[in-house]
Amino acid sequence: MKRIIFGGAFDPIHNGHINMALSAAKQIGGEVIFVPSKVSVWKTKSVEIKHKKRMVELAIKDFDCFSLSDFELTHKDNFVYSIFTIKHFLEKYPDDKIFYLIGGDQANKFHLWKYCDDIAKFAQILVFPRKDVKLSKKNVDRFNMIVLDGEERSDASVNIRDFKEIDIPYPVIQYIEEHSLYYIPKLKEWYGDRYNHVRSVANLSYQIAKNNGFNPQKAYIAGFLHDLGKKVHLEKNESEYKDEIKFLNTAYNGQFKNLPPYAVHQVLGVYYAKKEFYIEDPKILNAILYHCTGNENMNWIEKIVYAADKIDPCRGYDSSKLIQAMMEDLDKGFVTVLKANIDYINPKMKITGSNEFTNKCIDYYLK
Ligand SMILES: [Fe+2]
Ligand SMILES: [Fe+2]
Repeated sequence: MKRIIFGGAFDPIHNGHINMALSAAKQIGGEVIFVPSKVSVWKTKSVEIKHKKRMVELAIKDFDCFSLSDFELTHKDNFVYSIFTIKHFLEKYPDDKIFYLIGGDQANKFHLWKYCDDIAKFAQILVFPRKDVKLSKKNVDRFNMIVLDGEERSDASVNIRDFKEIDIPYPVIQYIEEHSLYYIPKLKEWYGDRYNHVRSVANLSYQIAKNNGFNPQKAYIAGFLHDLGKKVHLEKNESEYKDEIKFLNTAYNGQFKNLPPYAVHQVLGVYYAKKEFYIEDPKILNAILYHCTGNENMNWIEKIVYAADKIDPCRGYDSSKLIQAMMEDLDKGFVTVLKANIDYINPKMKITGSNEFTNKCIDYYLK
């Protein structure tokens, strides 16, 4: 049997890793063994071992050709040279052919790896090219590497830790929430009492997007960040929030100057999403920007976050039918939620509908 060793920091494991492993399994055949390391060379601190192990387990559980080895995680040394990992598997599977999967950036540095010639002697090296890195032909030839078809993403784990993107399997997303890893402590601290609401909106947004064939990870981030602007109360200490007030006054050419007080936080949310969470994706920013008032001609993510915010099960009324409507058909469901919001849930909307964005939204969808 062919055994493909896939080592890495997996901090955290993401869909890029899964795709890389799937591609190797498809092109070579056999089993891919994920071997997470305790720490990576470039980082001294990593998520706790038990969490790392569990996240890999959750990410690979649905794939028959994947397995997990905790050889490096349970090793007495913090850093295990690849040659020892390879020898471990050679001893464990004496009759099998051992492959070692690396990314394109590592392939170019491979001549600097400790025991590089031995590694290439004992295992067949597989390289998964990286989008932004030109492969060194010299190393490919010297170490007899097999270059796989496909492209590895370079920045996914860093972006995930920063919450700029979360291209990770949903069970891992849930695990990160449950165990307060990576970006969660920052969100908890920011939101305080509102954390349960935004967490619930994020998960609801994820499910609605997924059910309607849209990018669920993007919807999740927008859902989690939609109320960032509620952190501050501008009316109290205006002098402390000079930058925010300046942003509000100049944002989008003054378009939002006359928003009613309750809706100001949707614009401020954009300011904090950019400044504190480094979000640049215009789709996510606009979903935050119109989540409170709505707008005309809204796109899928704007509709999802607007609706998920109103029908969040934590709000304390039975929103199950509205949730069902959103799950079944985003466009029709949105109109149903908008109607319900105006007629029943928030009668205030009739008064506050006087803001130009809600008026436009009502004219566009309900008339
Ligand atoms: Fe809000
Ligand atoms: Fe909200």
